[in-house]
Amino acid sequence: MSSAILEVENLNTWFYTRRGIVKAVNGMNYSLYAGECLCLVGESGCGKSVSALSLLRLFDSPPGKIVQGRVLYNGTDLVACSPDRLRAVRGKDIAMVFQNAQSALNPVFTVGDQMMEQIKAHDGLDRNDVLTKAKMLLEEMRIPGAARALKMYPHQMSGGMKQRAMIAMSLSCDPKILIADEPTTSVDVTIRAQIMHILKDLKARRNMSIIFITHDLSLVSEIGDRAAVVYAGKVVETATVTNIMNNPSHPYTSGLISCLPDISSGMKRLPSIPGNTPNPLNMPAGCPFHPRCSKAMEICRRVEPGLVHIADDHTVACHLYGPGAGGSR
Ligand SMILES: Nc1ncnc2c1ncn2[C@@H]1O[C@H](COP(=O)(O)OP(=O)(O)OP(=O)(O)O)[C@@H](O)[C@H]1O
Ligand SMILES: [Mg+2]
Repeated sequence: MSSAILEVENLNTWFYTRRGIVKAVNGMNYSLYAGECLCLVGESGCGKSVSALSLLRLFDSPPGKIVQGRVLYNGTDLVACSPDRLRAVRGKDIAMVFQNAQSALNPVFTVGDQMMEQIKAHDGLDRNDVLTKAKMLLEEMRIPGAARALKMYPHQMSGGMKQRAMIAMSLSCDPKILIADEPTTSVDVTIRAQIMHILKDLKARRNMSIIFITHDLSLVSEIGDRAAVVYAGKVVETATVTNIMNNPSHPYTSGLISCLPDISSGMKRLPSIPGNTPNPLNMPAGCPFHPRCSKAMEICRRVEPGLVHIADDHTVACHLYGPGAGGSR
């Protein structure tokens, strides 16, 4: 495995609301390696989007604040660096396709104008070169008739076209890292397959690292090299996708996998993990998963487990493993 280009260490992003403190990201740890696709996977509300937005400080602030932690990118801590330095990293080094990205397109400008604005903001190219680059990016996204598509307003494009235009826009400054937050949720299965294919192709051709955010483990198997399973604002298991799928170690990961549909068994109802995700305003003491965990022990109610290595490139935060596992509880 090559060296990490991005390291997220004990990241905490909290929202100070009138109802209390929402600990959306609450001790997040993971590394991203050069040229890999890391999938952040977990149920709705577990902090996937806020953790990704935190890398570039793009969450709502106030009420949000990074209260602790580091995001190391090529030796620079993006949490502590100046706004100017961060602005230089945004788009050019690390770009993001936002969840519901299509709605971020401005309805009163053509897609071409919006793409060219983005390219101009970072590159010192003249108008003709900017136009050529915008057209090439749409072609790379396999949008048919790229020159015509540049002249379209967002409402003239299908959902799939808009989503691909948004991915093209995020690539306009040739980023080293692309964060794709649920890029296929609002498109049909055919477009979904196209977008997955495009992302895999980009990773291979541009040797780009991708952080792919999803709640869908089948997409993880399709695109991911490694996965980080997120629960209640933190990573509870990381491993290669093969290990996550074949040898899940955290009871939450096992629960997610057991919820995958198995067409061959002719099941009528999809299984689900019993219970609900914890209220972020009122996290349970100890392991945040213990109220839903069939393997919970006494210690799980009191002590929060840290991530421990259980094999090469496989870490788990669970009292079933690590120091004292199997001891008196
Ligand atoms: N601006 C905000 N103010 C207060 N709470 C917020 C804000 N943005 C997000 N949150 C809360 O932070 C928590 C994590 O949200 P986040 O959007 O990261 O979840 P997610 O894992 O991306 O979920 P989904 O799969 O539904 O996209 C949630 O409880 C959410 O309500
Ligand atoms: Mg999200």
